[in-house]
Order: sequence, then structure tokens, then C-alpha cells
Amino acid sequence: MKKTLIIKNATISTPVGHSARKGEEMAALHTISEGAIIAEDGIITYAGPMADMPETPQCSECEIIDAEGRAVLPGFVDSHTHLIFGGYRPDEFEWRLKGDSYMSIMERGGGIQSTVNATRTESVDSLVEKARRFLHRMVAMGVTTVEAKSGYGLDTTTELKMLEAINRLANDPQSGLRIVATFLGAHAVPKEYKGRTGEYVDMMIAEMLPAVKGKAKFCDIFTEKNVFEIEDSRRFLLAAREAGFELKLHADEIVTLGGAELAAELGAVSADHLLHVSDKGIADMARAGVVATLLPLTAFTLKEPYAPARKFIDNGAAVALATDLNPGSCFSGSIPLTIALACIYMGMSIEETITALTLNGAAALGLADITGSIEPGKQADIIILNYPNYRMLPYYVGMNCVRTVISRGSVVAQND
Ligand code: NIG
Ligand code: FE
Repeated sequence: MKKTLIIKNATISTPVGHSARKGEEMAALHTISEGAIIAEDGIITYAGPMADMPETPQCSECEIIDAEGRAVLPGFVDSHTHLIFGGYRPDEFEWRLKGDSYMSIMERGGGIQSTVNATRTESVDSLVEKARRFLHRMVAMGVTTVEAKSGYGLDTTTELKMLEAINRLANDPQSGLRIVATFLGAHAVPKEYKGRTGEYVDMMIAEMLPAVKGKAKFCDIFTEKNVFEIEDSRRFLLAAREAGFELKLHADEIVTLGGAELAAELGAVSADHLLHVSDKGIADMARAGVVATLLPLTAFTLKEPYAPARKFIDNGAAVALATDLNPGSCFSGSIPLTIALACIYMGMSIEETITALTLNGAAALGLADITGSIEPGKQADIIILNYPNYRMLPYYVGMNCVRTVISRGSVVAQND
């Protein structure tokens, strides 16, 4: 007998498909009023009008939720986070408020390196416990899939420790979430290799990639001026691709360097940040089908201009939105604020924003086949809002509109 979940009286809105929605497709949500959803053993078997709902299937464990007309959407996908880290950096936040820049703090040995120092001395258990608390808050905001990066080890031992923490959380049935691991050994050049970027890249290729193979789906790099520039990035990413990783890039975050163009050239799944992307980068990514993962909370925190979401969408690209939760450039995992910033400052419609946080986020993780929309055959990752209309999401600025969170057919959060 199957475990069955039935949601009745639902105002369902969802993007539709098994791949990223591009350009004007992003605004097209399929809406079913007076709808119902049936999920059996965590898989959606019916999503349509209540009137056409098939006979309630025989079930041993049957949960029926009356949505009472509320808006029902796919669970959110946070496809870019630095969830695992030691320590905090509130001092740097204050220095930035007084005029210091993110890169000048990094060049003085603070920034990422300071979190590296703290992460190297922290145990796996304590990294896991800290992350669990963040995940708990993320689930309450409707997140059902999270990407988590390593990248605060910058030596093989600590990178493996971070991936162990991520994979422990991923395999923990209690977490209620789907977690995808990304190897980000190329997050910065560690102090041991200062001035020897090429040698660090050599070491990552020779030692780290073989060591982390099988422990992360994606390989990511901070392609940035004075960090890993284009040639080093290309060399590293080619080796990562050869080793079987799918590719992501932190691209054109601080200056225009050509990271977007490189992502397109290498067939990366996504390029992320893109605050300073060139017009050619946008065109190349749209043509190559690289998802543009935009992180408005980081632009907000660093007081930088927002990424050109409109240009990406108007040029036929697929945009995803994510939080970038990390202890430095963006210590926030707020989905409500991400939604508000996307709509208020990036010119995205609420429909585009929903697609960006669901199906396109799933596509940025290579998961569009199994999650990101409410359709038969997909996993039942579903949220019920407090309101009948999803348009409340950006309007209730920075506030959580999510009432019930369902991950793979089970209720994992209930905000009353
Ligand atoms: O996505 N830019 C590089 N990485 C992170 C920040 C990491 C940190 O400051 O600790 C980002 O913004
Ligand atoms: Fe990041």
C-alpha cells in the first residue's frame, strides 16, 4: 500500500516542463483554480481540477490537506549557497559600511581566507549542526532543494571535511530537503600559495579533483580579477569536466572579466552573480543555454548594482534566483527578500521570479526532471502560501508568506 498525500481546494500555479524556461516562457505559469494534487510515495500522480480528480486511491497512510483556496506553488530551489562555514565575519560587515571594499579586505588576508582559518579548525559535527540550523530556517521559507558548496578549506583535508558535512546532511532523512553538493576548492588562492595561483591550480587538478570525485556533482570556481582569471579558470574547469564534474562559475561578480563567455564556451550548467556581465556574455549564455543564476541579496549587501535580469530574459536566457547565503558577501538566506529585490529592483515580474526560484533553480542543479514544478511524474515538493494569491509574495516585503512546506510528499514545515 502506498503513502498518499492529497491537497484539495488548491489554487495551483506552476511553471511547466523538464528544462529551464527561457526568455518570455519564464512569465508563463499554468494556473488551476479549485485544483487538487495527489502524490503517491512522494511522486505527483495527479495535478488538475478537483472536479476531474480520480477516485481517491487505496492507501494505508493517507494525508489530506485542505488548502482552503490558498496559493500552491512548487517548493523553492536555493541553487547557490555557501551553507557550510566556520565562524562569522561581522567585523568585515562594519568595515564595509565605513567604506572598505570586499576585494580590499580579501587582499589584506581577510574575507574568504578568514573563514578558511575558522573552518579548518572546526569539526565535521559542529559544521553539520550549524548548517542544520540554517536549513531549518530555509525550509520554513519554502525551500525544498538546496545547493551547498565547499570552498572554505582550500586544502584537500578541509575540502573533504566540508563535503562530508554536506553529504551527511544530504543523506539525513530528518533534514527533509534535497541537498546538492558542489566542490569549490577554487574559491580563493589560499595563503600557502599566495602569488602562486598557477601552482595552486596544478595542485587542485592533480590532488583535489581525484580526491573529491564522487562526493560532489558540480565543480565551481571564483573567476575574478586577482583571484582565478580566465586562463586559470579555463584550465581548471576543463580538468574538472574531464574528471566528470558538471560546471558552475562565480562569474563577473566584481568586475567584467569574461566569466559569462567562458561559461558558455565550456557548456557550464550555470554562471552565477553576473553583476558586471557584458552584452556579449549575455548573448553567449542565452545561445549556449547556460542558466544565469542571479543573487540579489549579495548585490544588496555589497551595495553593488543588481545583475541585469531584464536583459538576460529579453535576450532569451533562462534566469534562476538564489540566496548566496555565506558569512561574507551575503549573510542572508532570505527567500522573501530575494523575491522582493528581484521584483522591485531587477524588473522581474512575480511570475518570472517564481519560475526563477523553482523550475529554473532546479535546472541550474540539473534536477528539472524531478522537481521545480507541480506535474505528474515529478517529486511532490510543494508549498502552500498563507494567501490565495501568489502576488502577495513581493508585496509583503521581506516577510514569509509560506504556510505549509511539503518535501517529497511529506509535510516538513508548518508555520501557523
Ligand atoms: O558568492 N565571491 C565569492 N564567493 C562568495 C563570497 C564568499 C565569502 O565572502 O565568504 C560569493 O559572493
Ligand atoms: Fe557564492
